[in-house]
Amino acid sequence: MKTIIPPIKSQGIKTKLVPWIMDIAPKVGGRWIEPFFGTGVVAFNARYKQAILNDTNPHIINFYKGVQTGKITVPLMKQYLQTEGKLLSEAENNGYEHYLKVRARFNSGEFSSYDFIFLSRAGFNGMMRFGSKGNWNIPFCKKPDRFAQAYITKIVNQLAAVSQIIQPEPDWVFHNSSFSEIIPLATENDIVYCDPPYYGRHVDYYNGWTEKDEELLFKLLSETKAKFILSTWHHSDWRENNMISKYWAKFNILTKDHFYHNGGNVENRKSVVEALVCNFDISKYHTHNHSVKEKSEVTQLGVQWMNETIAKSVGQESGPSRCKQETAATTV
Ligand SMILES: C[S@@+](CC[C@H](N)C(=O)[O-])C[C@H]1O[C@@H](n2cnc3c(N)ncnc32)[C@H](O)[C@@H]1O
Repeated sequence: MKTIIPPIKSQGIKTKLVPWIMDIAPKVGGRWIEPFFGTGVVAFNARYKQAILNDTNPHIINFYKGVQTGKITVPLMKQYLQTEGKLLSEAENNGYEHYLKVRARFNSGEFSSYDFIFLSRAGFNGMMRFGSKGNWNIPFCKKPDRFAQAYITKIVNQLAAVSQIIQPEPDWVFHNSSFSEIIPLATENDIVYCDPPYYGRHVDYYNGWTEKDEELLFKLLSETKAKFILSTWHHSDWRENNMISKYWAKFNILTKDHFYHNGGNVENRKSVVEALVCNFDISKYHTHNHSVKEKSEVTQLGVQWMNETIAKSVGQESGPSRCKQETAATTV
């Protein structure tokens, strides 16, 4: 199925990883719970009828609540982008003066969700970053004609798509809180998808992440009765994520090569091996680079497991040669 792309942009967006996440996510009868919602791309593609969605960033949550309540609509967004796009294209300094005006208006405390989308789409490299006072501090993309008709159509189509997916309250509930308030809401019928800021990587005002946070996340996910998937990074060309061996290694882990296109920081532009940590069975997948195992391979593993179990129960070691012979006999 085609991936739904949300109207907000951010360097941490998981668009490219959505098919991987959705493939391994078990279908549950309860709610989709996302304590680190971000742009929302994962939840929009999970398409659960009931969801709890949270982020510490109030601008993200205000925007989607506005869509949910009908305050933000496709015609209003189209009109807004046409008006502001024209002002941008006519502004001094190749449009920069108008970008600065919208940014100052937003940062003055107005925090309009429409201006939030303008800044998200006219900011440098599709990045989202807030300064020490919670102010938007991304520079202009330097394209005065940013909001050409085709680009406006693209954004409003994205808005139209997510407007159809977002369910009214109480089916979809948005929170602007910490993950620690959200994970305990999950029951055994729910699935929790966590995509926290990556420890040891980029941070900003709404995105600080310390080892204490990682430890608390580990504790809450270890206690939850729900199924969970955690996105994190495994290693880069430079170093390993030592949070994996310290906390997550007791769960099931899949990895995948990934290339982040966005980000001012050179480290964030290089390839990273992403990880999905889960508390459910993922043995039918190869552990690296996401493919389903051939049926015979799954059978072999099953036979190996059976041999080991039988051997243990009769107090023998199950040698690999014996295991291989029986496997061949079973799978032909
Ligand atoms: C990596 S981003 C999530 C990206 C998202 N999966 C996507 O594809 O767009 C992490 C998000 O967690 C939020 N966040 C940071 N600290 C948080 C906390 N303590 N509790 C809840 N959300 C937090 C940030 O504002 C950010 O939007």
